[in-house]
Amino acid sequence: MSALEATWDGHGCDFADAVIAGLRGTPKSIPSRFFYDARGSELFERITELEEYYPTGAEIALLDAHAEEMAALAGPGVCLVEFGSGSSRKTDRLIEALPRLASYVPIDISEAALAGAVSRLRERFPGLRVTPLHGDFSAALTLPRSARTQKKLGFFPGSTIGNLTHAEAAAFLENCRVLLGANSGFLVGVDLKKSTDILLPAYNDRLGVTAAFNLNLLARVNRELGGDFDLSAFAHEAIYNAAAGRIEMHLRSCVPQSATVLGESFAFAEGETIHTENSYKYTVAEFEALAASAGWASRQVWTDPKGLFSAHYLTPA
Ligand code: SAH
Ligand code: AVI
Repeated sequence: MSALEATWDGHGCDFADAVIAGLRGTPKSIPSRFFYDARGSELFERITELEEYYPTGAEIALLDAHAEEMAALAGPGVCLVEFGSGSSRKTDRLIEALPRLASYVPIDISEAALAGAVSRLRERFPGLRVTPLHGDFSAALTLPRSARTQKKLGFFPGSTIGNLTHAEAAAFLENCRVLLGANSGFLVGVDLKKSTDILLPAYNDRLGVTAAFNLNLLARVNRELGGDFDLSAFAHEAIYNAAAGRIEMHLRSCVPQSATVLGESFAFAEGETIHTENSYKYTVAEFEALAASAGWASRQVWTDPKGLFSAHYLTPA
């Protein structure tokens, strides 16, 4: 048992079952939530610093410009609950702006990222009660006892909502409405539809950090599931699927080959891919309609002058 409060019920966190099921499927796939082992979380942090990866800078600029306004909408004394908190670096701005913040509950599937964030935050904000939850935010969640009676502000930055299909995102938003309660607010960061001249380099950077992030999934299978993937025989690929409105990441087999995982052999034709991630992009109206379908009303939306990114303040409808 880790030092973090282990509260998830195992649903969605079983790497072995998900990999075997995904590699047996046609087309082959592995869910993107498994990118985030310690190495994957480290590589994601490097992605956020890349020139091409605009979402992080754009969202931080929105938080810098509007944190006071966001905090005023939330009101005093809330418990801040963050989904997919990672390093929690963006959260500093909200923590500083929220008046008399009662507590902070970061939720993440990456134990390493969560542990790093909690020790950094406890040092930076010694008076703040930080109660981490390690697990899958799409699974049934139970908030810490102390949070149950407090008014809650949900925070889901980074456009991690874009890594869910529309149906998964609607179900997630609905679950959050119940979890956060009738009196809550929910601040969601959503990446906007834009030219592929901006989108494609963001997912295929010149330094190859995104390629390393994608390939680390196979390295993780080798490390944790006794796999024998030859990483040099797979290539990172990012495409924009305009019909679906999403970036797709794949690992493309460069040659005909097979790989073994947990004793099971999987054959790959030359050019066959493992689909590893979707990153859906929205217009402001599309996201508001999705939120409305899950019982959330849009109270305020902030976008940057270039129309790269949006932050939505939602309240239960
Ligand atoms: N919020 C940060 C990190 C975004 S990266 C930012 O905006 O920069 C996505 C984060 O969500 C990672 O830390 C990853 O570990 C976490 N994550 C992805 N899928 C998850 C899931 N199903 N449940 C919990 N955490 C998840
Ligand atoms: C976490 N998530 C929103 C990122 C994204 O942009 O979809 C993950 C990522 N994949 C490749 N680069 C970054």
